[in-house]
Amino acid sequence: MTKRVVHFGIIGCGLMGREFASAVSRWCHLLDVNYIPVITAVCDVNLDATTWFTDHLASIEQVTDNYRELLDNKRVEAVYCAIPHHLHEQYYLDIIRAEKHLLGEKPFGIDKQANQAIQQAIVEHPHVLVRCSSELPFYPGALKVYDFVKEGLVGKVIDVEAGFWHSSDLNPLKPINWKRKVSTNGAYGCMGDLGLHTLHLPLRLGWKPRLLSASLSNLVEERPDHTGQAVPCETWDNATLLCEVDSGQHTFPMVLSMKRIAPGHANTWFIRINGMLGSIEYSTQNPKQLKIMRYTAGGRQVWGTEDIEYHSAYTAITGNIFEFGFSDSILQMWSAFCDELVNGADMIQPFYCATPDEAAYSHELFTAVLDDVQNRISTRS
Ligand SMILES: NC(=O)c1ccc[n+]([C@@H]2O[C@H](COP(=O)([O-])OP(=O)(O)OC[C@H]3O[C@@H](n4cnc5c(N)ncnc54)[C@H](O)[C@@H]3O)[C@@H](O)[C@H]2O)c1
Repeated sequence: MTKRVVHFGIIGCGLMGREFASAVSRWCHLLDVNYIPVITAVCDVNLDATTWFTDHLASIEQVTDNYRELLDNKRVEAVYCAIPHHLHEQYYLDIIRAEKHLLGEKPFGIDKQANQAIQQAIVEHPHVLVRCSSELPFYPGALKVYDFVKEGLVGKVIDVEAGFWHSSDLNPLKPINWKRKVSTNGAYGCMGDLGLHTLHLPLRLGWKPRLLSASLSNLVEERPDHTGQAVPCETWDNATLLCEVDSGQHTFPMVLSMKRIAPGHANTWFIRINGMLGSIEYSTQNPKQLKIMRYTAGGRQVWGTEDIEYHSAYTAITGNIFEFGFSDSILQMWSAFCDELVNGADMIQPFYCATPDEAAYSHELFTAVLDDVQNRISTRS
């Protein structure tokens, strides 16, 4: 099959920039796709960070510490941008105005105001494809949850719980970085970091949670800096949101939790949906396992657990007998972005990447959380 080449630039050559570049290196993993990304340019203010890219990717023609030079590169058609949150607004605006397609990282602006500026640029450049990175719904188990709901197998929804949990911050000796400072990560704290991942699937299912109340905690208030000296660690570590969703026919509760301090959890993303006809649970903690209960009036209530086969959104060379992992989800998500870019409405499969509107909704919710918490603090004092 002839593949349409999409020349990409990567801005931000850190943790996620490398993850993306590695995914392109195994594009041959995907079968039956009519596009292939090629990384043509990389940019990082720290040029040392680009060395890994030039060491491993022969396709790179441009290395720069100035993103405007990358945007001036006519060969670059699309950009993956993975930089600290305080830079999202300026960089995303400039990428969109340069008419480069953008796969940006969450939270898509450090706050609601920054996000609104990005939204406005998108409206002004309708031919630019803009999507937000959120790979976890590309796990086969998550896609099965999506299909289960869409096929109407849940019936009347009883309640929903979704979350994204990490645990490395349980260690108070873990050094501070930009993700633990309000100036670079934002006032949302863990919500800016983990929130869109948690909301992506509920929003895609058409469930817009309205905040009832929230609890935020800052459990570790100081961390060592690079010299070992204790400095303030101001960001919220954990957030639990009690929300309500109006389905049009009835309302149901939704609990969303984003935790950087969830003892023992390493990248645990989960969703649990209970319904009058069917209930379903999926967690990346046991990435092969899907739990389902089907119910008919008067019948027995028995949960079943199945090991999910490797059925990805885009067919891959991996046999169904094997299991799916984090780097597969990045590959699948990137494929969805290229699919939409190249095939438009005729995408090979229908699950597209998180949209700017979905990111904008996350800002609405997280701003409401901060307002709610601030109101309670003011009332107390
Ligand atoms: N999708 C996911 O699962 C996931 C996971 C982690 C982080 N993220 C998101 O990815 C983005 C980056 O996070 P990360 O973990 O890769 O961070 P990182 O700190 O590992 O990498 C960020 C890179 O940006 C570079 N940078 C800083 N300022 C820059 C500038 N002005 N111009 C160009 N480059 C600059 C840094 O030198 C660094 O190499 C954030 O938005 C974060 O929320 C997403």
